Amino acid sequence: MPAIELKGVVKRFGEITAVDGLDLDVPRGICLGLLGPNGAGKSTTMRLLTGQAIADEGSLRVLGHELPAEAKEARAEMGVVPQLDNLDVDVSVQDNLAVFARLYRVKDVRAAVDRGLELARLSDRRTDSVEQLSGGMRRRLLLARGLMHEPDLMLLDEPTVGLDPQIRTQLWSLVDLLRSQGVTILMSTHYIEEAQRLADEVAVMTHGKIIARGRPDELIAKHAGRETAEVYAPPARLAEVRAVAEAQGLTVRPAGPAIAIVGSERASDGAIPPEAIRRAASLEDVFVLLTGEEAE
Ligand SMILES: Nc1ncnc2c1ncn2[C@@H]1O[C@H](COP(=O)(O)OP(=O)(O)O)[C@@H](O)[C@H]1O
Ligand SMILES: [Mg+2]
Repeated sequence: MPAIELKGVVKRFGEITAVDGLDLDVPRGICLGLLGPNGAGKSTTMRLLTGQAIADEGSLRVLGHELPAEAKEARAEMGVVPQLDNLDVDVSVQDNLAVFARLYRVKDVRAAVDRGLELARLSDRRTDSVEQLSGGMRRRLLLARGLMHEPDLMLLDEPTVGLDPQIRTQLWSLVDLLRSQGVTILMSTHYIEEAQRLADEVAVMTHGKIIARGRPDELIAKHAGRETAEVYAPPARLAEVRAVAEAQGLTVRPAGPAIAIVGSERASDGAIPPEAIRRAASLEDVFVLLTGEEAE
């Protein structure tokens, strides 16, 4: 039985269809990266899985529990890290953990809190108020809080959004640790590097649907090819290069000040100018091709 099984899930907010016929299976023991631009429906999907939102159509099972009827049972077995920090600023670091441990009926609350503080590397800040913590510390605490009851399934909604690169790396190590312990993880992100680094499989989501799914290397081979050539030149020259490549049926996309010719290994003579920088095709190429959004 997969950890998560969604079939034909639809969620509307008035005129907006946030989730639009979503099919998603997450097998146990993997980290699945739900990669999509802002507004793709990632957070709504997470909220459906926690029972915080109710689907208009479709069927949802989490750890064998049917939603929304068995949302309470499902919730008891999963850990959740929301996109928005909702720590309790009125109580100490350790009490933020203790409150959750009690909520989840953890037997040894003290041991769970100690474990969480250690994981978040906040043992020496345990009596501080949350407001004294840095952004990165708060994020680590939020993650540790979701793990109080040692869940088999973790939902991480954009776990590193808005964090400094250095803090992001710290969070990644934490997620990697969980993954190595066999925890099933569904992690949404709009950072390609995050998906590439952490996810065993990636599902690309846009406009409420999954449009591609597979291991990063599979997605790259299927949608981008082996090699991408980037060309930096004045606009007139870029237009010329683009026209030649497109005439050969190659896909060309903007890449900041440059253009990227995807699948350049398939180009015939003259399509790739000598000044081009050839590099291995990347998940970013796939993301931009499939979603039409510039990567972050
Ligand atoms: N509570 C809500 N009320 C109205 N519209 C919403 C609500 N939640 C999300 N939406 C809309 O649904 C779409 C998907 O949002 P969301 O799931 O937050 O996307 P993501 O997390 O991928 O950025 C967006 O257009 C968003 O504005
Ligand atoms: Mg979101």
